[in-house]
Amino acid sequence: MELSELENIAQEIEAYSIESTETLEAFRIKYIGSKGLIKGLFKEIKNVAPEERKAFGQKLNALKNLAEDRHKTQQNSFSTDNKKATKSTEDWTRPAEEANLGSRHPVSLVMNQMVEIFRTIGFGISEGPEIEDDWHNFTALNIPKDHPARDMQDTFFLSKDPDTVLRTHTSSVQVRVMEKEDPPIRTISPGRVYRNETISARAHCIFHQVEGLYIDKSVSFADLKQTLYYFATQMFGEKTKIRFRPSYFPFTEPSAEMDISCFFCEGAGCNICKKTGWVEIGGCGMVDPAVLSNCNIDPEKYTGFAFGMGVERIAMLKYQINDIRLFFENDIRFIQQFKSVR
Ligand code: PHE
Repeated sequence: MELSELENIAQEIEAYSIESTETLEAFRIKYIGSKGLIKGLFKEIKNVAPEERKAFGQKLNALKNLAEDRHKTQQNSFSTDNKKATKSTEDWTRPAEEANLGSRHPVSLVMNQMVEIFRTIGFGISEGPEIEDDWHNFTALNIPKDHPARDMQDTFFLSKDPDTVLRTHTSSVQVRVMEKEDPPIRTISPGRVYRNETISARAHCIFHQVEGLYIDKSVSFADLKQTLYYFATQMFGEKTKIRFRPSYFPFTEPSAEMDISCFFCEGAGCNICKKTGWVEIGGCGMVDPAVLSNCNIDPEKYTGFAFGMGVERIAMLKYQINDIRLFFENDIRFIQQFKSVR
């Protein structure tokens, strides 16, 4: 018996094709079984020349391990195949699980709806920075430094620089638009605003606004009323009435507060309208000529109206939410209630 013969057998074992449990068994009998080739070879050791015996023994052991390993791996692979085929735990008749779709935040829902309503009557959208300078947030809007009107809007100042603020309204965006564009201007500016207010069920230091601006030749208060009336009926229903109460804003003259008839009790008086039949939804007015001049628009030639509404307030009315803080806590149980709304 030659060492090279063992080499041949090793190659044979590696090349042996085992495709089924039957061929696996044939392999076992041929090489590893008690009457197999390897057992026989062990008996041959005594016939090997003494000086080769050690090497022969080592080679033979390696051969035995090779055959056993091959058998074992093949056996394992057959048995896991079997398990896969016969012991499946899947129930293929089970109905598919519903895909868990996210929901839009109620603030986004209402903001999108507001934007859409104004878009259908020709308003474009403009956006601007949330960190503003004094000019765009105040001075250009006819609110000079140290003027008491600044107290109306509790401002967050950034660092010690009194010129840099978190915008308190998106009117700042409208200043930017007026500075850049020539009339006619018809735009709305939706966005987040900040006010240093004590947080309560009715007020938050962060909220969202949609403000509107229309500047052209001979724009009148009647245009303002008609635009906001259209908005109110689209947002709250055909039967909605509107009411204007005189008010004051430094950047509009005349100025008004706009109420809508309570769409919930239709004017009869309920908790939502505090028994008055009316709910306030925003401020508005004719753009003050001083603001137009500040933005390089000739007030002799052009007039305009502006309005501003709080998105959370409208969402609270529409969905009867009684605490503004719910919008910012992002409790999944609150947010998921808006799943079906598009
Ligand atoms: N900018 C005002 C506010 O934030 C709202 C407003 C806009 C009022 C336009 C009148 C005209 O309170």
